[in-house]
Amino acid sequence: MAVPQHDVADLGLAQAGVRRVEWAERAMPVLRRVRDRFAEERPLEGLRIAACMHVTAETANILRALRAGGAEIALAASNPLSTQDDTAAALVAEYGIAVYARAGIDAAAYDRNLATVLEHRPHMLLDDGCDLVNIAHLERPELLDETIGGCEQTTTGVIRLHRMSAEGALKLPMVAVNDTATKRMFDNRYGTGQSTIDGIMRATNAMLAGRTVVVAGFGYCGRGLAERARGMGARVIVTEVDPVKALDAAMQGYTVLPMDEAAQVGDVLVTATGNRDVIRLEHIASLKDGAVLANSGHFDVEIDLPALESLAVEIRREVRPQADEYVLADGRRIVLLAEGRLVNLGAAEGHPAAVMDMSFSVQALTVAWLAEHHATLVPDVLDVPVGIDTEVARLELEALGIDIDRLTPDQEDYLNSWRA
Ligand code: NAD
Ligand code: ADE
Repeated sequence: MAVPQHDVADLGLAQAGVRRVEWAERAMPVLRRVRDRFAEERPLEGLRIAACMHVTAETANILRALRAGGAEIALAASNPLSTQDDTAAALVAEYGIAVYARAGIDAAAYDRNLATVLEHRPHMLLDDGCDLVNIAHLERPELLDETIGGCEQTTTGVIRLHRMSAEGALKLPMVAVNDTATKRMFDNRYGTGQSTIDGIMRATNAMLAGRTVVVAGFGYCGRGLAERARGMGARVIVTEVDPVKALDAAMQGYTVLPMDEAAQVGDVLVTATGNRDVIRLEHIASLKDGAVLANSGHFDVEIDLPALESLAVEIRREVRPQADEYVLADGRRIVLLAEGRLVNLGAAEGHPAAVMDMSFSVQALTVAWLAEHHATLVPDVLDVPVGIDTEVARLELEALGIDIDRLTPDQEDYLNSWRA
């Protein structure tokens, strides 16, 4: 059967999508430079890329850069709720990308779209959550002979890749873009912090000042989220399983509690752990009337949704866009945002373009590096080459008009000598 050229909701939305993509582009100066360089040097000429990424205006801009470098690209969504239908239309109609993504698709369509991008016989896989790599290995292993490697964008995806590698199942060199300093420190922290609050606000219009916000997980994302919630005037409670992270949260002045206790007092509870069942039956049973539940971790497993459904005597869908209300037997109402999926992408637009500028510049440069060096690489989880991260940070500072000091020769000598 012939591979469909695209599957998007409405190509008539393309011009609205172009406006959105161009608006994002304004805040992505480093990626613009990468695109200009790629257009001149064409480092990706003839390379077929299959991508599983959130279909947003920011993603459109990295794909434009890769396309300028000569790549042919097929894109599926990395989450059923995060697709911007206008951006998807613009990618097809204006930017020459084969997109298979519509907002609000079900699990079967999600899987089908991943299978379809693999029909393009990719040389490279760009993944956000490891679903594409997973099905390529499990369902289309014959394609891996032609595949030279790929990139993984998020913490949960990198964890899954390490598990594959430990079991000898990983057949490709996969670069952990997530693990760079610029990604974790800025995207996971400030990006997730701001956009998660944005998602909660858009879905509820709730007042955060003076309310109690529970943040589960004090990793890169959780820390960013706690900082932003505190900045909004919320009383922030952190839950953790790692003693060091919990201590860090305590020393930053947050109240640290087990979820059993936090659940009883939280007005808004947000998970950002990458783990399952963080808010589960016993916690849900003790929530306050009106409590809001949201998740910003990669998969919709952090809030135990079957438990929530089992406790509900009535479910009121869409009391507001991206907010469902679950009524418990004693009349308490629990509000679940974005179906328990990534709230920042399901109920808002994901991270601001200015922060994706760094993550996606690193990723675009890593793609070019992979294309050049793949013959020397072995199947494993690899770090982004030293230098790309620092170079992107330097360009970002330049774009922001921020100058910094440089080491003097004496300082360099001093740092390089153990005799001094
Ligand atoms: P991280 O490893 O830095 O932090 C996760 C933290 O959760 C750790 O400190 C861990 O100890 C803690 N944790 C694990 N299980 C827990 C539990 N049961 N209760 C409380 N804490 C628990 O990871 P990260 O980079 O912060 O990413 C977290 C999740 O967010 C991942 O799924 C990642 O893929 C996802 N992510 C989402 C976005 C977004 O746009 N929403 C952006 C980046 C990452
Ligand atoms: N992940 C988080 N925010 C994103 C965005 N705006 N675009 C693509 N992926 C993202």
